[in-house]
Amino acid sequence: MQGEGKAGKKIRSIDDLDISPSIVAKLKDSGYTSLESLVTASAQDLSVTLGIPLPTAMKIINAAREALDIRFKTAKEVKLERMNIGRITTGSKALDQLLGGGVETKTITEFFGEFGTGKTQLCHQLAVNVQLPVEKGGLGGTAVYIDTEGTFRWERIEAMARGKGLDPDEVMDKIYFIRAVSSDHQMAIVEELKELIPEKNVKLVIIDSVTGHFRAEYPGRENLAVRQQKLNKHLHQLQNLAEVFNIAAVVTNQVMARPDVFYGDPTVAVGGHILGHAPGVRVQLRKSRGNKRIARVIDAPHLPEGEAIFMITETGVTDVTE
Ligand code: GTP
Ligand code: MG
Repeated sequence: MQGEGKAGKKIRSIDDLDISPSIVAKLKDSGYTSLESLVTASAQDLSVTLGIPLPTAMKIINAAREALDIRFKTAKEVKLERMNIGRITTGSKALDQLLGGGVETKTITEFFGEFGTGKTQLCHQLAVNVQLPVEKGGLGGTAVYIDTEGTFRWERIEAMARGKGLDPDEVMDKIYFIRAVSSDHQMAIVEELKELIPEKNVKLVIIDSVTGHFRAEYPGRENLAVRQQKLNKHLHQLQNLAEVFNIAAVVTNQVMARPDVFYGDPTVAVGGHILGHAPGVRVQLRKSRGNKRIARVIDAPHLPEGEAIFMITETGVTDVTE
């Protein structure tokens, strides 16, 4: 069970711990800015650094561990937690199957590919589909749509909602849209989501595209290290939200084909997929003939190998019908 802090509030940050504001301030000053940082702290050190009694320091550390649910669990408990994972249909059974039943909660799913491969269309579709009841492939929840490129179209949401037999106005009422104007803004938005998610029953957070601002603000090879560092922090922040709230996080990442690569897959190169070795599911999208698109899951030993073909139609993402 996860602990409760001030006024019975769930503990999501050190501000929620049931301790005085002056101790919270001291913690932050000493570099203990997150619950995670407290988990590995020694009670002795904390007591000395903050000038607080040892039992208080122990109490703080235990509260942080409890809040993050860090303790020995039996394999069976882990199994039950895994079963708790929700899945959102993409609209295509073939693509769902490739993803092990749809886009999963508690993890980040990255769609990457060249322009026009359907990344934004999939985001729109998932923002609609998450609202479906569980028996129809949704999670009966709402979506947050963070748009960094100005490519969100309510008209598409309307068309896709109709395609699913849903009331377009109701569907649009349950998509919380925000434009992120810079990478710092994007990070601040995600930071603040911990308030909105429980309040609005959010089950899906979309960032389209997650990399755009970072690439623009930190261009070239010389900025690569800083860029990746910031991006990693951002993804960690997002992964945390996904786990704590049992929601799905979907991000997109445009990659360009590299004409100088003659063997292997030329689209994997520039930018690459961003999740690197972070947990999560990476899905590469490629164009096929007409409105057909090919999806492939990259380095995910737990998912089936192979590819899925889907279509983007007037009413959204579907299986190939002919
Ligand atoms: P970038 O953001 O440029 O990297 O591309 P993307 O991967 O986000 O591509 P996007 O999802 O915008 O896909 C664009 C494609 O979706 C178009 O080329 C069309 O094939 C299809 N599409 C978009 N809107 C519609 C529509 O209203 N009707 C139909 N039939 N297809 C659409
Ligand atoms: Mg796009």
